[in-house]
Amino acid sequence: MEKFAVLGCGVVGSGVVELFEKNKALIEKRSGKELEMGYILDLRDFPDRPYANLLVKKIDPILADPDVTVVAECMGGVEPAFTFVKQCLEAGKSVATSNKELVAAKGDILLKTAKEYNVNFFFEASVGGAIPIIRPLHKCLAANDFSAIAGILNGTTNFILNKMIKENMDFSAALALAQEKGYAEKDPTADVDGHDACRKICILSSLAFGKHVYPESVHTKGIREVALKDVELCGKLGYSIKLIARVQRLENGKILPTVMPMAVEEDNLLSQVNGVYNAVMVRGDGISKAMFYGRGAGKFPTASAVLGDMIEEVQLDHTIPSQTWENVNSTDFIEDFSAFSAKRYIRTSAADAAVLREVFGDLTLEQTTDTGEAVLVTETSMNAAQVERAGEALAQKGIKLLAEYPVLVS
Ligand code: HSE
Repeated sequence: MEKFAVLGCGVVGSGVVELFEKNKALIEKRSGKELEMGYILDLRDFPDRPYANLLVKKIDPILADPDVTVVAECMGGVEPAFTFVKQCLEAGKSVATSNKELVAAKGDILLKTAKEYNVNFFFEASVGGAIPIIRPLHKCLAANDFSAIAGILNGTTNFILNKMIKENMDFSAALALAQEKGYAEKDPTADVDGHDACRKICILSSLAFGKHVYPESVHTKGIREVALKDVELCGKLGYSIKLIARVQRLENGKILPTVMPMAVEEDNLLSQVNGVYNAVMVRGDGISKAMFYGRGAGKFPTASAVLGDMIEEVQLDHTIPSQTWENVNSTDFIEDFSAFSAKRYIRTSAADAAVLREVFGDLTLEQTTDTGEAVLVTETSMNAAQVERAGEALAQKGIKLLAEYPVLVS
């Protein structure tokens, strides 16, 4: 018999409780052991819930119970989650978390603590909701030298962009619907401004390249400024604007993690990922590329990943699979965003082909809109400074650079 505790009974925590109860027999069969839900920690009272008798408001009874071997952390945020998780690990209990903010900020410390105390710290649910990506990177693909990871890692923004495009829903209504469905973070600005996707690419980068990448090192831009006009025009040109979280290893050996809206070529499978679905494309020297796809947010998809970690922990019988990365106390291995270079989708206020070619070099001047504006895709890659200089050169000719998105090729 293994006893477990659930920290936080919000969307994900209640999903863990309910999915466990629904599939208890299956879960126990696959774990090879009987499992008992011992405690649910939450500051709120839930007198009407069937498990009200398991509710505790403090971590102490969980820490003090030697029968609790596994803890599911679904509280969100760095504190008090960090303190509780560290205490659980130090008390010899393995932890499975869905909390990407915690892993991105403190993963190195918690992995080290888990190793010291001979327990596991698992976080499959922290990236991509239901999608298995942490374990594949760490295990199935471990023979690869990774060169890049690119993904749609935030279900809320992908859902919002889709509703705006396909159902003409305005931004606030789409966000409210995402919140109602339990996709959005407690503070949805974390979704909209790209911070949630940033935390997730930090975790994938740390895992793939072996050194802790902190959110502060990632150039992060959300979808607030994405104009429907560009989404539509991009679509007509065969591109989809998506919030892309990406890390690439450059020729100088450094890595460059970014989160920003990009114009994704239609040949790239990521352009086909819609609604709350997430996808992660991994490139490695052995596999060329592999794509992972599934529901990226929501109660049961995320709970499925937390329970999967808990089952693995029980199956492993608390042995250590050495999933870890280093804290190198330096960001020397991370390239500055000024080095980021890509072809660009550009919208300008006028369609003077000669001027546009003079400024951008070879380009595909795909279309002139009925307002006289031009949309184009450059043939050559440009960095941010080059785009800025191009904007200045256009301004001298009386043309405005109205929008620009880096292109993600297939
Ligand atoms: N708010 C997140 C999302 C939840 O929309 O993807 C899953 O991490």
